[in-house]
Amino acid sequence: MVAVAILAAGRGTRMKSNLPKVLHTLGGRSLVQRVLDSCHLINPSRQLVIIGYEGEQVKQCLQSIPSLEFVEQREQLGTGHAIQQLLPHLQDFDGDLFVLNGDAPLLRPETLQNLLHIHKTNQNAATLLTAHLPNPKGYGRVFCDNNNLVTQIVEDRDCNAAQKKNHRVNGGIYCFNWPQLAQVLPKLSPNNDQKEYYLTDVVQYLNPVMAVDVEDYLEINGINDRQQLSAANDIMQDRIKNRWMAAGVTMIDPDSITIDDTVKLEVDVIIEPQTHLRGNSVIGAGSRIGPGSLIENSQIGQNVTVLYSVITDSEVASGCRIGPYTHLRGEAKIKEACRIGNFVEIKKSEVGQKSNVAHLSYLGDAILGEQVNVGAGTITANYDGVNKHPTIIGNRTKTGANSVFVAPVTLGEEVTVAAGSVVTNDVPNQALVIARQRQRIIEDWKNKIQQK
Ligand code: UD1
Ligand code: MG
Repeated sequence: MVAVAILAAGRGTRMKSNLPKVLHTLGGRSLVQRVLDSCHLINPSRQLVIIGYEGEQVKQCLQSIPSLEFVEQREQLGTGHAIQQLLPHLQDFDGDLFVLNGDAPLLRPETLQNLLHIHKTNQNAATLLTAHLPNPKGYGRVFCDNNNLVTQIVEDRDCNAAQKKNHRVNGGIYCFNWPQLAQVLPKLSPNNDQKEYYLTDVVQYLNPVMAVDVEDYLEINGINDRQQLSAANDIMQDRIKNRWMAAGVTMIDPDSITIDDTVKLEVDVIIEPQTHLRGNSVIGAGSRIGPGSLIENSQIGQNVTVLYSVITDSEVASGCRIGPYTHLRGEAKIKEACRIGNFVEIKKSEVGQKSNVAHLSYLGDAILGEQVNVGAGTITANYDGVNKHPTIIGNRTKTGANSVFVAPVTLGEEVTVAAGSVVTNDVPNQALVIARQRQRIIEDWKNKIQQK
């Protein structure tokens, strides 16, 4: 049986932030959530999160994950002290306990699985993840004998000059035989530069403790300051982009593109510069997104083009052309082969197949049929100051330039709306509606004025 404990009680002083460190986000998800996600292959029967600094906030952020147990560390006296808090909670537990630093968001699930495998086959008291870093500054140094058995871990600030030359570092990722760890936890003392109880000191009392080098040292990156957060972001972005490029996606100037790891892309998608794909967005095969676009929590069909546009919480079906400068939001649904163009905002509306909303329009709470042509500058006046109201426009209707629909209002099929109309009443099928004053011409006006 395996349990997991996540260390998430520290403030993260080096972040210089009001937010607890583990709640800082990387690609849309908090550090601690990412650490929890990395555990899915080891199948823990219990997951304990040790909280302290702004613990309520951490708890709230993890609310949606079922069956988490929160253990409070009232004073943050070090990583060893944090794990001591588990003693009353794991009294009857006799399996292995993974301890993961809450600030190591780049761990791969396979790495933990491998660590568990080695831990079990060697019947270790503890097994920990190590790496040889080009720049080991800030990390605890791990000292081993010739068989990778750990003799000592010394924190960076406690190292002497000779010890600092050791580039093998502690990743802060451990698998312990819990009953053995529980026995020695009370022996820790705050005998170091920080006057903290270090979890790493337990290696002196346990036997055997084995170090396992991680294949990709970038995985153990701990986030302690904003520079490390930004570096981790770069690493994660590289991973995500390389994966999609390997799967048949073209990226033009990938350094200027960001993609959340929750996004899904189909084959032959082309992503142009300065484009950002977020949340649970899906981009269909052959679509071309960007340059300069943001797509968040939206589903884009196949062979769609999106140019300099923002699309959030919306759906765009196959064959549509979006932009430049379109804003779709709040459950806009654009059906197949539509053209939504320059300076158009669409909110919570449905646009039927092969319709055009090409220039300078606002559609809110509207339902448009198929092959509707929305003239330049058409506006749905959907808000009376208190409530929102719907506008319904039938198939093949054409709205004239600069027309306003004062909702609630319904236009039938094949209606023609004269330019500049303010439509306040429903219009039947195939009618022409003109809702404006007739033009008047006063001849010779200029002369009359001058004579006065
Ligand atoms: C720790 C390790 C170091 C390792 C590095 C890897 C110790 C003593 N040192 O150092 O060997 O190389 O991680 O990134 O463990 N926390 C608590 N309660 C506390 C203190 C910390 O829950 O009282 C949590 C923090 O929120 C954080 C984690 O423990 O998620 C690690 O703490 P941090 O201060 O970042 O330790 P490092 O100095 O990075
Ligand atoms: Mg750290």
